[in-house]
Amino acid sequence: MCGIVGYIGNKEALPVLLEGLKDLEYRGYDSAGVAVLHDGKIERIREVGKVEMLAKKIKNKTKEVRLPYKGVLGIAHTRWATHGGVSEKNAHPHTAGAGKLALVHNGIIENYRELKEKLNESLESETDTEILAKWIFKNYQNVGRGDLFQAVRSALLSVRGTYGLVVIHADHPGELVAARMGSPLVIGLGDSEYYLASDITPILPYTKKVSFLEDGEVAKISREGFEVFNLKDEEISKSVIKIDWDVEKAQKGGFENFMLKEIFDQPTVFEDAIRGRMDIGGGTGKLGGLNMSLEEMRQVKRIILIACGTASHACMCAKYAFEKLSGLPIDVDVSSEFRYREPIVDRHTLVFAVSQSGETIDTVMALREAKKRGAVARGIVNVVGSTIAREAGAGTYIHAGPELAVASTKAFTNMVAVLLLYALEFGRLHGVDLETGQKILEEFLKIPAKMNRILKNSNDIKTIAEKYKNNSDFLFIGRGINYPVALEGSLKLKEISYIHSEAYPAGEMKHGAIALLSSDFPVFAIMTKNELYEKIKSNVEEVRARKSKVIIIATEGDAEAKELCDDVIYVPKTMELLEPLLNTIPLQLFAYHTAVALGRDVDRPRNLAKSVTVE
Ligand code: AGP
Repeated sequence: MCGIVGYIGNKEALPVLLEGLKDLEYRGYDSAGVAVLHDGKIERIREVGKVEMLAKKIKNKTKEVRLPYKGVLGIAHTRWATHGGVSEKNAHPHTAGAGKLALVHNGIIENYRELKEKLNESLESETDTEILAKWIFKNYQNVGRGDLFQAVRSALLSVRGTYGLVVIHADHPGELVAARMGSPLVIGLGDSEYYLASDITPILPYTKKVSFLEDGEVAKISREGFEVFNLKDEEISKSVIKIDWDVEKAQKGGFENFMLKEIFDQPTVFEDAIRGRMDIGGGTGKLGGLNMSLEEMRQVKRIILIACGTASHACMCAKYAFEKLSGLPIDVDVSSEFRYREPIVDRHTLVFAVSQSGETIDTVMALREAKKRGAVARGIVNVVGSTIAREAGAGTYIHAGPELAVASTKAFTNMVAVLLLYALEFGRLHGVDLETGQKILEEFLKIPAKMNRILKNSNDIKTIAEKYKNNSDFLFIGRGINYPVALEGSLKLKEISYIHSEAYPAGEMKHGAIALLSSDFPVFAIMTKNELYEKIKSNVEEVRARKSKVIIIATEGDAEAKELCDDVIYVPKTMELLEPLLNTIPLQLFAYHTAVALGRDVDRPRNLAKSVTVE
């Protein structure tokens, strides 16, 4: 996700801004920029790539103009691309009013198209942020010059989406205006100087006194102090707290490591994945990236999902949804197999290349093979501007934000979310009725709260994990859409705890795997209430008859489950097709706590890379 830094005080702003951006590098980004108010003019410099490249560009520029960029008011940004590719023109800060106003932003403006039409002016970038900057400037002109705060506040009344933003204006050298809706912003209190940042990391070197903005708040900050109002212009009193975190802990948002932070990020990033992508009235998905007319969608006779590892498990979950909703033949192919087979592909085949990094070499090569054979190709990717995103030509970003832990968690649930929306779009073309479509979307909206209910049980799951941490083998079983969930749980456990683990379709156990079972071979069974409940329950009874310990994931309220196992983890009820979004979370937490109990490096497990870019 993007990083924001702002400063107003009596020191040179530039060094504070650049150091602050360096402190935010851990968040992942692809470009950076600064804007400093100097001699009544806003000087803006942006660069693709790392912060040190931006610093070098600034140094060269000041030599070129033979003056150092001075100024005691400024803003800065590291960009994780969401709307618009990776380029200097898309980097923040964005300006308006012929450079009079500059803005940095973290988040997604949902109604940017509507605002763009109202602005009716040319844009230099492909970003929603530039539209936001120009929209605020338009309000500045309308609410009368001289009140930057009111311009921002009134502009935000017609903005939908998420933002953490900071604005400066050349005619207001003594003022920073900041606003928050869904994307964190914190104010650091110095002595006649104030800092702003996306998290406390850039602030810690200067002050431990901070005040966190809440959603719907707008702050007016000067050297003398700060005032906070809501969007209705009512003043809000804010508490100031003293932070005792060190920088490293701050970068992980207070979590022990990135993996746990990213597991807990899932409710928030899930909302980012579906935001603006559901047509509730029409009971269908609204994924612009598909770039296909309804007629072209009707001509799709077969779908193939190609991916590796966790991404392939997300695809396997989606297979059930595509079949159930669209009735289209659909295959999931591990990329490293697809590319060396003779896959049957033609112009009526739609191939989705699914990848968090967008750089996995097997999926890149499989995508090229599919295109060579005439398929229609689309990407479902997290990293904007990555190879798969570019070579697929069109597709959908999963908006999971940078996933820094090697073991993929939030990218998995966001991939499932996007794939389910695609399955619904095709389903509505192939007989799914409006009411069913709307029911699915209404359940989507309940998922974040249900995810949070599971996350609250993290400590209980930790207790269970510590009971089983010394087992050298594990079997995960599930049926239907919960079979790929079992695969994902098994992969998580083995890749971060190094415990040998397998996953099996529960119905397949008696064809061999059951020979493994004994009292020291525990089994994790996903036994949530759905069409296959009775079937999986009898599999659990078979397992118990072989004296294996059993951990069950069960639906809240299923008291019977407790009698069938040694440990039970309850999850909220949801639609069967959406179960992977919930049932995977306890398995992520089980693997995480097991690995921690065994003293593993959960963020950087041995032998693994975050992106497998070599064969
Ligand atoms: C996930 O926990 C693994 N680290 C790995 O299986 C990963 O999912 C796989 O390498 C695919 O990566 P991608 O999604 O970036 O293509």
